[in-house]
Amino acid sequence: MKAYHFDAFGDDLASLRLGEDAAPTPGPGQVVVRIRANALNYRDLVVARNEHPGLRPGLIPVSDGAGEVVEVGAGVYRVKVGDRVVPSFHQTWLSGPAEPEFMRGMLGGVVDGLLAEYVLLDQQGVVRLPDYLSYQEGATLACAGVTAWTSLTCGPPLRAGQTVLVQGSGGVSIFALQLARMFGCKVIATTSSADKAERLKALGADSVVNYVETPAWGAAVRDLTGGRGVDRIVEVGGPGTLEQSLACAGMGAQVALVGYVGGLAGEISPRLLMRPGLAVHGVAVGSRADLSALLSAMEVAQMRPVIDRVFPFSEALQAYRRLEGRSHFGKVVIAGD
Ligand SMILES: NC(=O)c1ccc[n+]([C@@H]2O[C@H](COP(=O)([O-])OP(=O)(O)OC[C@H]3O[C@@H](n4cnc5c(N)ncnc54)[C@H](OP(=O)(O)O)[C@@H]3O)[C@@H](O)[C@H]2O)c1
Repeated sequence: MKAYHFDAFGDDLASLRLGEDAAPTPGPGQVVVRIRANALNYRDLVVARNEHPGLRPGLIPVSDGAGEVVEVGAGVYRVKVGDRVVPSFHQTWLSGPAEPEFMRGMLGGVVDGLLAEYVLLDQQGVVRLPDYLSYQEGATLACAGVTAWTSLTCGPPLRAGQTVLVQGSGGVSIFALQLARMFGCKVIATTSSADKAERLKALGADSVVNYVETPAWGAAVRDLTGGRGVDRIVEVGGPGTLEQSLACAGMGAQVALVGYVGGLAGEISPRLLMRPGLAVHGVAVGSRADLSALLSAMEVAQMRPVIDRVFPFSEALQAYRRLEGRSHFGKVVIAGD
C-alpha cells in the first residue's frame, strides 16, 4: 500500500516521501480502515516544521481522514466491515476531561497518522460517519471540527442570542462560525481580505472586521456589540490577536485559547484578564465523545463542512503548500487519485 512518511522534519517539506508499505493486518480489537480522504490542519505544518512534541523520523503524518472499515480483528464489536468511519484525533481519549496520558495517542504527531491507503487502529479510536456526509466532508472533522465544538461547549453553556467572535477563515474558525450560528448566536468574524469577508458573511457572519486594515480591531468589535463586548471568543491568532480579543471581551466572556497562527511571542497585561467573570480555557482538540457529539449535532442541522480545494493523493505536497500559502478558505482536502 502507499503511505507518506516524514524521514526528517524542519526542512521545508523536502523529507515528505511517498513510499510502499506492507498492508496492515488487524490484531484483537483492531480494525483496518481504507482511507478515502484526508484533510490538513495548521497542526500538520507545525509537525512538518519540527515544532510538535514527540516526533520520530518515519512518521506517517496527518491526523484527519475518513474511510471504510475493510477488516476487523477478533473481538471487534463497535464497527463492522463496510462501515464508514472517522478516526478520532486523540486515539485514547474517549471521554471526560483531558489527562496527560491521553496526549500520547495523537494521530500524525505522536503516533502514525492517516496519510496512507490503509491504517490500523484500535476499534475504540473510530466513530461512524453519518450517511449524509461524504468521505471528503467527514475527513475535515476530527481536528478542526472537534476543536471548534469544544471551544464553544467548554465552560458555562453558550446561550442563543450571545455573541461569538471567530478569527480568520481557516478550518477551526469556519467550523466555529457554522456551529455558533447553529447554536443561535450572533457571529463577528475577523479576516484579512474583502473577498473572504464576503464569503464569511455568506456563511452567516453578522459582521466582519478586516484585521489588516484595522490592526486595533478589538475596539471595532466592541463597538459592534454596542460597547457590551462579546460573550465567547475562539482565539486562534496568538500574539497581537489575543490582546485585541481581550479588549473586546465582555463581562463573563469565555475565551477558548486554541491557536497561535501568529507565533508564540507576546505579552499580556494582567489588567486585560481582570474583566469580571472572564475565563480563559486551554483547548486540546477533544475526546471521542466530543467527536460523536459534534457529528450528532451536525446531522440534525445537516451542516456541511466548507471545503476549499481537493488535491489528489499523489499531490499531497501541493496540498501542504496550499495551506501554507494561507489563501485557503475552509478545509484543504486530499482524496484518491
Ligand atoms: N489547541 C487545539 O486543540 C487546536 C486544534 C486545532 C487547531 N489549533 C490551532 O488553531 C490555529 C488555526 O488552525 P487551523 O487548522 O484552523 O488553521 P488554518 O486552516 O491554517 O487557518 C489559518 C487562518 O488563520 C487566519 N490568520 C492568519 N493570521 C491571522 C491573524 N494574525 N489574526 C487572525 N487570523 C489570522 C488566516 O485566515 P484569514 O486569511 O481569513 O485571515 C488563515 O487562513 C492554529 O494555530 C492551530 O495550531 C489548535
